[in-house]
Amino acid sequence: MKRVFSGVQPSGVLHLGNYFGAIRRFVDFQDGYDCYYCIVDLHAITVYQDPKELPKQIQDTALYYLAAGLDPKKTTLFVQSDVPCHAELSWILECVATFGELSRMTQFKDKAEGKESVSAGLFTYPVLMAADILLYDTDIVPVGEDQKQHVELCRDLAERFNSRYGETFKMPEPFIPQFGSRIKSLQDPNKKMSKSDPDPNSYISLDDPKDEIVKKIRRAVTDSGREIIYLPEEKPAIANLMTIYALCTGKSLPEIEQHFSGKGYADFKKDLADVVIQELMPVQERYKDYRNSGDLPHILREGAVKANQVSSGVLKRAKERLGLSLLIDPTQRKF
Ligand code: AMP
Ligand code: TRP
Repeated sequence: MKRVFSGVQPSGVLHLGNYFGAIRRFVDFQDGYDCYYCIVDLHAITVYQDPKELPKQIQDTALYYLAAGLDPKKTTLFVQSDVPCHAELSWILECVATFGELSRMTQFKDKAEGKESVSAGLFTYPVLMAADILLYDTDIVPVGEDQKQHVELCRDLAERFNSRYGETFKMPEPFIPQFGSRIKSLQDPNKKMSKSDPDPNSYISLDDPKDEIVKKIRRAVTDSGREIIYLPEEKPAIANLMTIYALCTGKSLPEIEQHFSGKGYADFKKDLADVVIQELMPVQERYKDYRNSGDLPHILREGAVKANQVSSGVLKRAKERLGLSLLIDPTQRKF
């Protein structure tokens, strides 16, 4: 069975972009693939996180994965900091990565822009991501478009390590579907929907109540004209809303155009709010069920044990190739 690995940061609310760009895709893979999904808390602390809030955010992220339909019997769900091999392989790969290539990472440049001081961890963040992926002999990495450059770096590091020290890591492929891998802000269709946006009207959170969803969609910016047609260049705001409609309903873009022909933006937005509510309400219900069941610590512990088994074998392989001490074999560590 091919292996899938992906991660989401526990850094605040999850929004429709995360849901369609990542989480719902993860669910699609769970039948037929051996899936590992990781809550990447070590990535989150590259910027300050309030230690009082972080545990809740980690828990909430895990609960939303489950609420979106991930079945812990079929997939391995775990928290990154519970599996020590991630930080260890990251250091090893930092010694293979170059300062120059990390300086070219656009996400780092964006996040560092205008800041007086950023952590070294923010700079080496893509190397930790490469370690996450390579530790599981991953075949496929489902991510949003913004992560493509990081997966390419991961492939470069794997190739360099393999050619320097001998075949060690499997070469992963990103999985970035053309459609829905970049949901845009509801307030500015030139920007991606992002939880770091200071304007909460720009995104729909997975926990937004119905009336909030209706309000945010009503306030969403539109383009000139009044027709519901999919023209991403000329009508980026409507194209984004149509994308969300298509993802919620499974309808094709021509079907949506036809359905709303002769109708205006107000009608479309009203229907859009309905379909988003229909998509998110069951997720919110399942979130509450999982939270009340108290099963989460058990699910995450089982996940960490399994993740440790797999990743410690790959870490051992890398340490062997490097000639590092294996007096204490990572696969034999008590966990
Ligand atoms: P993040 O919340 O930035 O850690 O992202 C978690 C996952 O959601 C990653 O795979 C991202 O590529 C994806 N993602 C984040 N924002 C969006 C967006 N606006 N549209 C589509 N996918 C997104
Ligand atoms: N960097 C990714 C993001 O911000 C999260 C992430 C960390 C990830 N490790 C990963 C995604 C490994 C895929 C595979 O969205």
